[in-house]
Amino acid sequence: MKPFPISNARSAILLLALASPLASAATAPSVPERIETLLRQMTLDEMVGQLTQYSGNWNATGPVMFKGNLKQDIRDGRVGSMLNVHGASSTRQYQEVAMQSRLKIPMLFAQDVIHGYKTTFPIPLAEAASWDLAAIERSARIAATEAAASGLHWTFAPMVDIARDPRWGRVMEGAGEDTYLGSKIAFARVKGFQGRQLGDTDAVMATAKHFAAYGAAVGGRDYNSVDMSERMLWETYLPPFKAALDAGAATFMNSFNDLNGIPASGSKYLQRDILKGQWGFTGIVVSDWGSIGEMVAHGYARDNRGAALAAITAGSDMDMESNAYRGNLAQLVADNKVPLALLDDAVRRVLRKKFELGLFDDPYRFSDPQREQTALNNPVHRQAARDMATKSIVLLKNSAKLLPLSKDLKTIAFIGPLVQAHKDNLGGWAVTLPGVDYSTFVVSQWDGLKNRLGSGTRLLYAKGSEIEGDDRSGFAQALEVARQADLVIVSVGERWNMSGEARSRASLRLPGVQEELVKALQASGKPLVVLLNAGRPLVFNWIAENVPTILYTWWLGSEAGNAIADVLTGDVNPSAKLTISFPRSEGQIPIYYNSFNTGRPGPSGVSSGYVSGYIDLAGTPQYPFGFGLSYTEFAYSDLKIDKSQLRGNDRLNVSFQLRNSGNYAGEEVVQLYLRDKTASVVRPLRELKDFAKIRLEPGQTRTVQFQIDREKLSFYNAQLQWAAEPGDFELMVGASAADIRLRTNFELTP
Ligand code: BGC
Repeated sequence: MKPFPISNARSAILLLALASPLASAATAPSVPERIETLLRQMTLDEMVGQLTQYSGNWNATGPVMFKGNLKQDIRDGRVGSMLNVHGASSTRQYQEVAMQSRLKIPMLFAQDVIHGYKTTFPIPLAEAASWDLAAIERSARIAATEAAASGLHWTFAPMVDIARDPRWGRVMEGAGEDTYLGSKIAFARVKGFQGRQLGDTDAVMATAKHFAAYGAAVGGRDYNSVDMSERMLWETYLPPFKAALDAGAATFMNSFNDLNGIPASGSKYLQRDILKGQWGFTGIVVSDWGSIGEMVAHGYARDNRGAALAAITAGSDMDMESNAYRGNLAQLVADNKVPLALLDDAVRRVLRKKFELGLFDDPYRFSDPQREQTALNNPVHRQAARDMATKSIVLLKNSAKLLPLSKDLKTIAFIGPLVQAHKDNLGGWAVTLPGVDYSTFVVSQWDGLKNRLGSGTRLLYAKGSEIEGDDRSGFAQALEVARQADLVIVSVGERWNMSGEARSRASLRLPGVQEELVKALQASGKPLVVLLNAGRPLVFNWIAENVPTILYTWWLGSEAGNAIADVLTGDVNPSAKLTISFPRSEGQIPIYYNSFNTGRPGPSGVSSGYVSGYIDLAGTPQYPFGFGLSYTEFAYSDLKIDKSQLRGNDRLNVSFQLRNSGNYAGEEVVQLYLRDKTASVVRPLRELKDFAKIRLEPGQTRTVQFQIDREKLSFYNAQLQWAAEPGDFELMVGASAADIRLRTNFELTP
């Protein structure tokens, strides 16, 4: 469409503004004034340009819609932002083109920097298992430092979707199933990405995504519909978004799913009423990839024009790759279908962020090749990735006390398709930069252990099998290698692209013949340690029941091999705990700890009689939320509360003793749960309300303290108002949601 200037009234205001004393005064105009001045000079096409985001194609996660002359479009002011452009020199080149446009408005460069940029950290679900908010924030901080030095202004992270369905491949990107923990982690990640303040050259804008309820896709099928009660939405799915907002998240991304019949990109309720209205969000709402255009496929809009109308009306500010705003929005305004004020508001939001980032002062300030070099090769970042990876490894079983590995072992067999892998330690969301040799940049499990053990221990290798397929021809060699060893470590799991976007799985079993390989090695009679590498909870009952030693090693990133060696050898005592329940069978899904008691609570075992459960399977998960072992043990005792009745805004002081009763220094994640026994709506059996990660030397005891305030007792009552109701509460302190060590009761009085 031919650019045309906006109404005469607007031009008149502009002339007035330029002639006003403000414009000529010595004092520099404020940012809002500069925004208004700019806005008044913009043609409709230029305004729509600010709301249009194109992909540089690299790493595209959907169909690329724009096939025209990208540079010409940028020069014409039709592109406000690009994703999938990275590197100080590439971003500079594109920005130079933007500087040739009439109004010289800089572009925003965005990328999915999900768990590290060049230095890959563990996948977010693994990091969450650390329960270490400072370390999680630091991980995001380092990712931002590297990304910002590489010309990026914006990351599409954190994903704060609560996820209770491990069939959904994107469980790997979030913090797990719990809203309280998920909110804390959302806050930490936003803080980490955005640093001290936007505008610093080591800070990138964070994106709270995917707004909203994307994690509840029916059947765990990615992009699928979501149908849930208002209560569930407010109580379980929205709080992490609110926490991200409270942490200052500069942007939000809407989601692919329809929620109760309305596609999120077209949901006025989500975007205008809740986010921009009730929550007062002043940043940018970006669509998900093509999600505006997809409203046609949803059956919510007739064509791209209808989709653009629905999206801008609903409050989606920027169109990522749908080509819906570009082709239609200006005409919709010209046709009086969309009030100009809506565009004004969306454009203001975009310009404001560009000002905050300092791009109007220097559009190239993030594109500095020298800073890029330093930031991308900083050994401190690698060390942090290693620390984070050790904190993310979950010890699921150590019943034969095979770990930490005995120093007397002469020969160890390290077997499995993941042992010498590189990319499989990274997962599908890792940024893989051209020019980086990941076969040396990622420390394989083999290299990590070999380097750590040195020449004193013989390390033997056999692949055993591939990750997928039914080829068992490698078993014989694996068994032969095992026969020569004092102990066998077998590393099995998912390939890097088996979890992630569009990676829903109906079966969560180990792919291929890997479980058979483990069975064969177990049958060899050698002491066996299993490493399970995956982007989600897998179902591995036979291993859980028969193999004495299991470490869940997820996808741990660049330093995977070193971190695994640190934990195997006991240089680091594992301290991670699961933040998502591990089912015994796909048939149990969704299974999560904070369910209701029901009128007929089922047994933990197989169900018989008219109660809630399965007649062919236990009602409990294989591993519960909050579960993870250590090489040492912890004893909990002396639970005290300072009152048994609370009134008004009283606070309840809680304390107990935690003792390291084992032989190794270690860290314990202690968890505080509450149950509201009777309320105007039924409440979960237990809800996480606080936690602490405590380090203790062997024999050391510490008093752990928590405080319960009214906020922690509150929930959405029968009227969907956030309130605490008088009545009885049970307070539980435990090592997991299923391992409650201490309990007491108190009352909230009217
Ligand atoms: C994903 C988003 C991502 C975007 C850009 C989409 O397919 O759902 O999470 O940020 O692609 O790559």
